[in-house]
Amino acid sequence: MGELVRFSVAVPEELVMQFDNLVARRGLAKNRSEVIRDLIREALVNEEWEDPLAEIVGTLTLVFNHHASDLQSKLDHIQHDHHAKIISSMHIHLDAHNCLEVIVLRGRSDEIRQLAESILGVKGVKHGQLAATTTGRWL
Ligand code: NI
Repeated sequence: MGELVRFSVAVPEELVMQFDNLVARRGLAKNRSEVIRDLIREALVNEEWEDPLAEIVGTLTLVFNHHASDLQSKLDHIQHDHHAKIISSMHIHLDAHNCLEVIVLRGRSDEIRQLAESILGVKGVKHGQLAATTTGRWL
């Protein structure tokens, strides 16, 4: 982190009260300044993620029933086709029927989004979500 700069902002009282509740929920290690910095970074990451050419890092979490026919092999096939964009993956056998997979992706925002959609679109995937972050210089 570079040199800290102080600035003042005008905020409605009610919003400040809500913000202080948020700060309290984030725990003792966080104060107003820390939470403001987190929110600024979050906004910048979201903005970067909107740029199709930006280099991003993401995790794709999915839950599926491993009894579904060909599902695991279809998921593996897609991942092998895009191995250069997949840094790592983890497979957990949740119970007798369900599997959880977490896939760590890195690459161009538009390509990562498309890859995530193609994995989530495989028949039998019950739930999934892509979470994006960045290696942006402000982190
Ligand atoms: Ni499994």
